Amino acid sequence: MTKQHLFEACIFDFDGVIVDTAGYHYMSWRKLASQLGFEFTEEQNEEMKGISRMDSLDVVLDIGNITATQEEKIKLAKQKNDWYREYLSNVDESAILPGVYNFLTELSDANIPFALGSASKNAGFIIPKLGISHLFHTILDGNDTTRSKPDPEVFIKAAESMKKAPSRVVVFEDSYKGLVAAQSAGFMSCGVGDPMVLANADFVIPTFEKFSIEVLSNQIDELEK
Ligand code: BG6
Ligand code: MG
Repeated sequence: MTKQHLFEACIFDFDGVIVDTAGYHYMSWRKLASQLGFEFTEEQNEEMKGISRMDSLDVVLDIGNITATQEEKIKLAKQKNDWYREYLSNVDESAILPGVYNFLTELSDANIPFALGSASKNAGFIIPKLGISHLFHTILDGNDTTRSKPDPEVFIKAAESMKKAPSRVVVFEDSYKGLVAAQSAGFMSCGVGDPMVLANADFVIPTFEKFSIEVLSNQIDELEK
């Protein structure tokens, strides 16, 4: 007999959830800010987690009080992405965050489908280097959507691809804006990181270490009480 779970599928954000790339995004934006002549702090970077590259650039330029034409913006975003890709040139499975691989394989063995739902246009390029692409039912990144988080487009598309209702799907996110997206479309949400920052999640885990289907089911059980 197959055990009934309190959820039918999962959707994972990429940067900062599956893979340890959030720091490289920050380093690249900080380098750009410094080249443009101003400081860019880790706190300011928190605001940019989850949003698209061009939306992030607007935030950075705003911080530096810099106005730029569309053409200049495209050049600046390309420069940031070139640095980001340079940082990632040797990325491999060692960049997968602790506990993630075990949880993904546990889901896979239990035939619970899961998808990737990322704002990053680089996710589709990085994920094959991690050796985990085959585990995902669907991989959707910033190239597959027209609206960026906090709009829920990427999560809705991912749930549709798995033929699951959002209310039966858990979204894993490390960004406040990604959690806003999940909640606005009726998904269950699990924050990955600091509960003070991710206060809008249904529940928060520090990392996937010691995480399992059983722990997740218990968390959902608590929610439904
Ligand atoms: C999100 C990150 O996943 O992707 C953001 O949290 C990043 O920090 C965004 O800016 C877009 O990423 P990329 O790889 O398309 O520049
Ligand atoms: Mg993220």
